[in-house]
Amino acid sequence: MAKIDPHSNYDTTHPRARYLHLKWTIDVDHRQIRGSVTMELDKASGGPIDLDTKSIEIHSVVDQDGSAISYSLEDKDPVLGSRLRIELPERTQSVTIQYATSPEAIAMQWLEPHMTLGNRHPFLYSQCQPIHARSILPCQDTPRVRVSYSAEVTVPNPLTVVMSAGSEGKREDEENKNCTFLFEMPQPIPPYLFAIAAGDLKSRDLSPRARVWAEPEMIDMAANEFGEVEQIIETAEKLFGPYEWERYDMLVLPPAFPYGGMENPRITFLTPTIIAGDHSLVDVIAHELAHSWTGNLVTNATMEHFWLNEGFTTWAERRIVEALRGEASSALRWAIGKNSLDESMARFGTNSPFTKLRTDLRGIDPDEVYSTVPYEKGALFVTALERQVGLERFDSFIREYINRFRFTSITTDEFIGFLDQELPGVSGAVNARKWLYETGLPSNAPTFDSRTLNQLQAAAENFAAGKRPSAQQISGWDWSELLVFLQHLPRELDIDSLEWLDRNLELTTRGNYEILVEWLTIAAGSDYEAVFESVRKVLMEVGRMKYLRPLYKALGNHPRTRQIARETYKNCKARYHSLSRRVIESVMKEYAEDHP
Ligand code: BES
Ligand code: ZN
Repeated sequence: MAKIDPHSNYDTTHPRARYLHLKWTIDVDHRQIRGSVTMELDKASGGPIDLDTKSIEIHSVVDQDGSAISYSLEDKDPVLGSRLRIELPERTQSVTIQYATSPEAIAMQWLEPHMTLGNRHPFLYSQCQPIHARSILPCQDTPRVRVSYSAEVTVPNPLTVVMSAGSEGKREDEENKNCTFLFEMPQPIPPYLFAIAAGDLKSRDLSPRARVWAEPEMIDMAANEFGEVEQIIETAEKLFGPYEWERYDMLVLPPAFPYGGMENPRITFLTPTIIAGDHSLVDVIAHELAHSWTGNLVTNATMEHFWLNEGFTTWAERRIVEALRGEASSALRWAIGKNSLDESMARFGTNSPFTKLRTDLRGIDPDEVYSTVPYEKGALFVTALERQVGLERFDSFIREYINRFRFTSITTDEFIGFLDQELPGVSGAVNARKWLYETGLPSNAPTFDSRTLNQLQAAAENFAAGKRPSAQQISGWDWSELLVFLQHLPRELDIDSLEWLDRNLELTTRGNYEILVEWLTIAAGSDYEAVFESVRKVLMEVGRMKYLRPLYKALGNHPRTRQIARETYKNCKARYHSLSRRVIESVMKEYAEDHP
């Protein structure tokens, strides 16, 4: 018996799935997916096979001839879920499992019509990363087992279904009540990249291979915001090699989505909060697109190697931004990233094992320890390598790396093995062991000094000391410069300063959520009544954890704002994704301890 992933029951001595056929009926009223998965095995085999499931009800298991196979479902482990053991008769080629999901399936969010823009139709979507695919289909839920898949998904009219797969058209049923959408995904993917969404959706072509999907009310704005996507894809291809997934579509979800973006292959899922009206948040697109190489082609073997996904992708995202917007712009992104790294390090404590890149997550729920460490510390490590060998050599190394490991899932050691082979001596020169296996940030971490950056930091320090920036200075700041300025301000300010900021920088009315939330975090944390309504509004509309965490945390500073937090949470709880709920509850628990 060989277990290689602390978050999966997958056993390397068992046969592997290589192709899945899904037949699903979506029951919106009961928040349930019912149907079957047929699993084709890599070779005809007998004996046990262990699958991951979570809150799934199994109805039957049969082989390729339709003969029943015996199985047993273990008791539930809080992180892993329930192991499904199937006893394969000799020479089994495929098994079909009939099953139904639970309304609580952690991968799914089911939105009632009032939580959509159109107000008329329900909306549902999945988020399978890191280990939630098992709550919508029994599978070997580890990135080490890549599968291709096909799907037939039936939904009530007039919903449209999209998946992380190629569309094969649709079939209306006779009474015109339901419609079945067909999909085919030829490229093998890790299970966390399964994705489905359904709702009242429209699409707009942005280039021959890219299109945006959104609710009809949002489609014009979305098409406008992401208009330069083809240019971003071409920029990425120049850096990392050909785009291997045929299409790059984007789906704008309702604001309840707990992340900024999710790199589901062929169709990135996005929060609507990045539609700022001025293309300013395209770095999220650059990021999710970059995962098409670092993440979806070369995949982390388990969540203990998550930095291979996010560190490389954050580095790649900034290379794309640099190519599109210039070096000054990317230097500011690095500064913004460093700020969020410092915050994560402070939250865990710099000696915490969760500040390592290679983590030990046995018995630990990866959602509980999600942070910017694998992103920002990971990206700094990649930059340290880049600076050690020079840009040109490193760029060809990256292309080699992607080429060598495409469509595989690898560990940190496999990466280092490849590095040592291709660029001997480099891992020692940058002290890779320290970066990967030790806590905190190594002292040789690359820095991104730029004149603008120093000026912004100085402006923030001056502000804290009572000296306001000049009108001329302010008018030259773009949003990321403004964000760096705000991030360097003290977390609590006096009324005069707050009034000055809002009057001169028009912060409360910003459409850019990065600015808006940074401002509201300072203002709410300072007990500034003028923003309370805006804070409530953001908390009610937005499910993105990146915004909910700091806002709820800041509201903990004062008695009145704690009251707002508690009230708002009570009212909004039902609308939040279960992942967002968990984050908020842990934040509020901290202040409940000090202020019952
Ligand atoms: N793959 C992640 C999102 C994710 C990670 C979901 C782990 C669940 C578990 C995605 O690529 C991501 O990093 N999104 C960021 C975007 C940003 C860094 C530009 C986000 O959601 O904030
Ligand atoms: Zn990412």
